[in-house]
Amino acid sequence: MLQDVATMDAAKISRVAEQAAPELAVVVPTFNERANIEKLYEKLSITLRSIAWEMIVVDDNSPDKTADVAWSLGRRHPNIRCIKRVGRRGLSSACTEGILSTSAPYVAVIDGDLQHDERILPTMLQKARSGADIVVGTRYSERATSEGFSAARQLGSTLATRMSALLTGRFLSDPMSGFFLVRRDLFVGLAPSLSSEGFKILLDLVVTATRQGSKPEIAEIPYEFRERNAGDSKMSPLVVSQFLGLWFSKLTGDIVPPSFLLFSLVGLSGVAVHLAVLWALTSIGTTTFIVAQVTATMAAMTWNFAVNNVLTYADRKLKGIRFWTGLLSFYAVCSLGAIANISVASLIYEMRSGPILAGLAGALMSSVFNYSVTRVITWR
Ligand code: GDD
Ligand code: MN
Repeated sequence: MLQDVATMDAAKISRVAEQAAPELAVVVPTFNERANIEKLYEKLSITLRSIAWEMIVVDDNSPDKTADVAWSLGRRHPNIRCIKRVGRRGLSSACTEGILSTSAPYVAVIDGDLQHDERILPTMLQKARSGADIVVGTRYSERATSEGFSAARQLGSTLATRMSALLTGRFLSDPMSGFFLVRRDLFVGLAPSLSSEGFKILLDLVVTATRQGSKPEIAEIPYEFRERNAGDSKMSPLVVSQFLGLWFSKLTGDIVPPSFLLFSLVGLSGVAVHLAVLWALTSIGTTTFIVAQVTATMAAMTWNFAVNNVLTYADRKLKGIRFWTGLLSFYAVCSLGAIANISVASLIYEMRSGPILAGLAGALMSSVFNYSVTRVITWR
């Protein structure tokens, strides 16, 4: 259908590009990108005018009604559609759902805020057509600069890049990139093994493909990272901790789930809360030790629950009445966890190992127990 491109006028070409069965699907995960969607579509239309392409917006029920904008664009252009997800959040899982919804043989993922330079897409597609499995738009090669980045963000990003090289065993200049193109059949094969949590789908993709033995051929195309067009970045301490969780999980060969690391770190902070409350109460000296100890335990459990609720389980945060029933179930599970802790610790202690080892084993036991049980009961 596209053979006689040379003889057609521009408007006609872009109409063909809109209506033919797509060769390239551009997946755009969005959360509050209302002001950017139409502009992005226009830019893509210009760049991809001689390619049969479609745009798939995957919106997580944005309060700013991004989905409405995408749908009304879809009334005017047949090659844009929108998947609106309700009751779910997450960049990686949004990308996965968008990619799995297309029949196009090649799929690109691009941010909705115009930070990625869409003009390299035709080159990326060309690379894939001639054999690359994954093509990454990269911000850090010598030729590319990254003006859209603060110094702190740059440093974090460098660190994350190093940590990723440890996992993939190869140097990628920008493994955190949210801008990449992949052969759909490769992605479909890997999708069941990808983590649905967090921000880092490309890293996950490369690690998973490498581990499963299909050493993917990766190409990198440099571009200039731009300033965000409108709205706010969703990068946050939560995103950083999710990255650490994913990294640790991959390091252990997927044995430890990504959120376990976070859950355990929260647990560790709970120990500090416990000791602080205990110290405060005993030094005031108006209560008996046992009352102080019980109060400290309750404080630590409440702290752990509240922090896990906003950090570890940000995507399924309990609110209103469910917050309180969740807290009660958390208390109950942790009490059982404490029994598990004490029995394992004393068992190991009886085997004549030192108290430190026994204590650690008990703590590990209870955190595994608390993690697995609250995951199915409290944050189901
Ligand atoms: N559907 C959905 N759900 N989309 C989301 C979510 C979510 O929970 N969170 C963010 N997005 C969308 C945003 O609307 C935007 O289109 C894109 O994902 C990237 O989010 P930003 O908030 O703009 O991220 P950033 O610019 O700070 O981060 C960039 O750099 C990271 C690496 O440093 C992005 O390119 C990331 O993909 C990249 O990992
Ligand atoms: Mn951005």
